[in-house]
Amino acid sequence: MAILLPGGAGFIGSHTAVELLQAGKEIVIIDNFSNSKPEVLKSIKTITGKDFPFYEMDYLDQEALEKVFKENKIEAVMNFAGYKAVGESVKKPIEYYTNNISGALVLLDTMRKYGCKTFIFSSSATVYGDSETIPITEECKTGGTTNPYGTTKLFIEQILKDIYVSDPTWDICILRYFNPIGAHESGLIGEAPQGIPNNLMPYIVRVANGTLPQLSVFGNDYDTPDGTGVRDYIHVVDLAKGHVLALNKLEKEKEGLYTYNLGTGKGYSVLDMVKAFEEATGQKVPYQIAPRRPGDIATCYADPKKAKEELGWEAEKTLADMCRDSWHFIVSQATLTKENQ
Ligand code: WQD
Repeated sequence: MAILLPGGAGFIGSHTAVELLQAGKEIVIIDNFSNSKPEVLKSIKTITGKDFPFYEMDYLDQEALEKVFKENKIEAVMNFAGYKAVGESVKKPIEYYTNNISGALVLLDTMRKYGCKTFIFSSSATVYGDSETIPITEECKTGGTTNPYGTTKLFIEQILKDIYVSDPTWDICILRYFNPIGAHESGLIGEAPQGIPNNLMPYIVRVANGTLPQLSVFGNDYDTPDGTGVRDYIHVVDLAKGHVLALNKLEKEKEGLYTYNLGTGKGYSVLDMVKAFEEATGQKVPYQIAPRRPGDIATCYADPKKAKEELGWEAEKTLADMCRDSWHFIVSQATLTKENQ
């Protein structure tokens, strides 16, 4: 029996693939490489020493998806095929609603057709909008999302709740990610967005290695200790391990609908991140203060108590680990690129 990973060649998907394989699970990856590269599949095999079936396809293609279910015994699905750039979603709402929501519906419909009702959904802290309660618990109000990316996550959460009400034999876990950063210690997989990064850490590492001239700090007049945005940064390997524990929970419970925040419970500002990165790597990160970014909120960090109590999960890696691993990945990739030239 295997776990199907749509988008398994992506940032979160590839790290979760590694943890699942190392936990002794069988996996199948489908990916159309719209935001990932084929080399990642080889890296997963190198890190784990394990092989797995791969299908290059779009998860919206129901015929291709049915072929995967016909050819493999799929016991559960973890969906990593959502588009995830906040800024891009504001410019391309149709692409985001089509890929994220229609894709999820095609996936869930095909799962039902083949009798597979165990589903782990990559949701996001953005479903809380600009939360009045900080730190954020799973009981906090959701809604008031400030961009189409966050709204797709909110809608899919609602779809999952409605599916569960219609058929309580489904076994569903919603994981609300805070800010995933870092990379596998091998330096073989990490965050490699196409083009100019939207997110903070991929931007910082490109300033540190000279690819980009300086970091623009989007606003220093927020109601935070140093005026810059505060977020809950979590190492992507800690996040990936959370998926293995969520799967264990679903396998034990057999049915139900569960929601967990996956965050560290600590908030760091943009300037905290610049300082932590410089201290951890010895690299300078020149920056300038720039206007606020539309859609941004001041502060967002998790209360991760529920995941600790119910999944036995908590983040273990430090901010220095996240900075060092992010830097090691981009340096390793540059070396690999030079060697292959
Ligand atoms: C973090 C902070 C910016 C870039 C989004 C999604 C979330 C998740 C992570 C997928 C903010 C500031 C950023 C820059 C800056 N996505 N910043 N200069 O917006 O908190 O969350 O990405 O898993 O669901 O919503 O992350 O990294 O873009 O921003 O000052 O060049 O860094 O203003 O305060 P965000 P981010």
